[in-house]
Amino acid sequence: MAAPRRAFGASPPRGRHRRTGGAGSVVAAWGTRALRAALWGLLAAGLHFPAFAESGRTPLPVIEKAKAGTACVEPGDVMRRKHMDYLKHQRDETVHGGVRGAKYSLKDCIDCHASAKTASVTKAETNFCVSCHSYAAVKIDCFECHSNRPRAVAQALAKGAPK
Ligand code: HEC
Ligand code: HEC
Ligand code: HEC
Repeated sequence: MAAPRRAFGASPPRGRHRRTGGAGSVVAAWGTRALRAALWGLLAAGLHFPAFAESGRTPLPVIEKAKAGTACVEPGDVMRRKHMDYLKHQRDETVHGGVRGAKYSLKDCIDCHASAKTASVTKAETNFCVSCHSYAAVKIDCFECHSNRPRAVAQALAKGAPK
């Protein structure tokens, strides 16, 4: 398969996809940026998102817990701020440099972060990779190619196990 250039190579610094649109897009883009800036303020303050949506304050995303008894590849607050950079570097190293079994493997993220209910990181709005992203209006195309399920589940499904 060809290296997935679209997601990174053609992106502006930090890899964010620019959205194009009609006359309203400047305003819309500003609004999104302001929302993200506000979210980053919260993230930078080290606030852990509480699992609630109504205590009089701005609703925050509910983030599903990782597999019990595991630890992330970096502390949670670091991951909240930097996971996108780690993933991008990892991908470049793997795809262009041939590095395997590396620290920031996307497959590893999914093994630990898939929902106990849906066995996926993206199937439901509350699943790990979409919970924050839909809140922050971030769109990623990673799962057009990568599996959103843990390896064990994907393998079982491929062998025809009942869902
Ligand atoms: C067009 C298909 C495609 C898209 C879209 C895509 N990838 Fe990949 N990615 C690949 C292929 C092919 C490999 C190399 C094979 C492998 O190791 O799975 C790879 C490898 C990787 C790796 C190293 C292997 C691993 O599991 O850690 C990471 C990390 C990665 N991609 C992250 C991403 C992220 C993050 C996105 C979304 C921003 C993304 N990819 C979007 C096809 C794609
Ligand atoms: C071995 C299991 C494991 C792996 C692999 C793993 N994580 Fe984690 N992750 C966790 C655990 C457990 C936590 C909760 C720790 C905390 O919040 O301090 C966590 C926390 C996080 C958080 C913060 C979530 C929050 O509630 O704010 C993000 C973001 C994150 N991980 C992303 C990733 C990404 C992206 C990858 C792959 C590069 C990854 N994780 C790999 C277990 C894992
Ligand atoms: C704690 C909330 C949170 C979780 C959980 C989370 N993300 Fe993110 N992610 C964000 C935010 C916020 C951004 C936007 C950063 C920005 O705009 O600077 C982002 C951006 C990204 C980007 C870069 C998008 C771009 O256009 O450049 C990738 C890739 C990404 N996340 C992958 C993942 C994957 C894969 C998972 C699940 C394993 C995940 N994220 C889980 C909050 C989160």
